[in-house]
Amino acid sequence: MKNIIYYYSATGNSLYVARFLQERLPDTELRSIPEELVEERFDVLADRIGFVFPLHYLSLPLQVEEFLGKVSFREAPYLFAVATCGVPYWGRPFLDADGVLGRKGRHLNGTWFVRLVSNYLPSRDTAAEWRIRIRAWFAHQKLQGIAKSVANKEHHSAWQILRELCQHYHEEWRAQQKKMDENFSCDTERCTSCSLCERICPMRNILRPKGHPVWQHNCVECLGCLHACPTEAIDYGGVTQGRRRYRHKDISVKDLLHEFKGKGQKNAK
Ligand SMILES: Cc1cc2nc3c(=O)[nH]c(=O)nc-3n(C[C@H](O)[C@H](O)[C@H](O)COP(=O)(O)O)c2cc1C
Ligand code: SF4
Ligand code: SF4
Repeated sequence: MKNIIYYYSATGNSLYVARFLQERLPDTELRSIPEELVEERFDVLADRIGFVFPLHYLSLPLQVEEFLGKVSFREAPYLFAVATCGVPYWGRPFLDADGVLGRKGRHLNGTWFVRLVSNYLPSRDTAAEWRIRIRAWFAHQKLQGIAKSVANKEHHSAWQILRELCQHYHEEWRAQQKKMDENFSCDTERCTSCSLCERICPMRNILRPKGHPVWQHNCVECLGCLHACPTEAIDYGGVTQGRRRYRHKDISVKDLLHEFKGKGQKNAK
């Protein structure tokens, strides 16, 4: 295998970016980070290895950080990372990724932010359609450059501003992990027991003993369940009712569901 791109995506932005790069880099395989974690596939041999993920509270999603800590590279591949986000540069995902990789003597060679649309519905409604289209156009232009840079194995460092402040906010957020899903509720009258929330969860944190979701307190707040529910039966903190659910227009819900085949770590308690 020439190139591997590991991706993590709840609402499709990062999967869109991963596919865009896959189409432009011959002989590239995409691998889902939650599935790799469960299947415990960590030993990798490839020429170029990429990580594409959303910015979560100004740094890495918790499962991406876990995966970076476990993955091991044979030989010396070109390593790159792309963080999708609503607001770029405010964050330290690449610094933190390098911190984890540095412990095994590896470093990211190319790093980029790609601004798309924020899916953090608890803080604000999804951006207007015209804004989404403009961001998509700029993202497309930027991605063409990123694809060329990765093909040529160029070095590139994304700006990351206000690093200490970002670290503070990120650590405060991650300290709440056990409580992250306490804000979710389900309107059982709207729930059709379709199972999408359960199947999109990268942590296997949702069980449905009576058809509707029951969260198991091992959430990473990716918000996949909230956005995927076709009847908008799921709410977060009483503030997301009436706010527009989001998914990247080129990605289907089916694309985002997980099929955990392995017997590896079981996240849900
Ligand atoms: C828990 C959480 C925290 C987030 N924090 C940030 C952030 O600090 N900065 C930002 O620009 N976007 C933030 N976002 C928005 C996502 O990074 C952005 O929508 C991303 O493109 C979603 O990618 P996905 O569709 O592949 O999941 C956050 C989203 C979530 C769910
Ligand atoms: S419970 Fe929902 S927000 Fe939490 S990890 Fe699963 S899909 Fe993501
Ligand atoms: S996705 Fe929505 S409708 Fe489907 S089982 Fe979950 S809560 Fe119910």
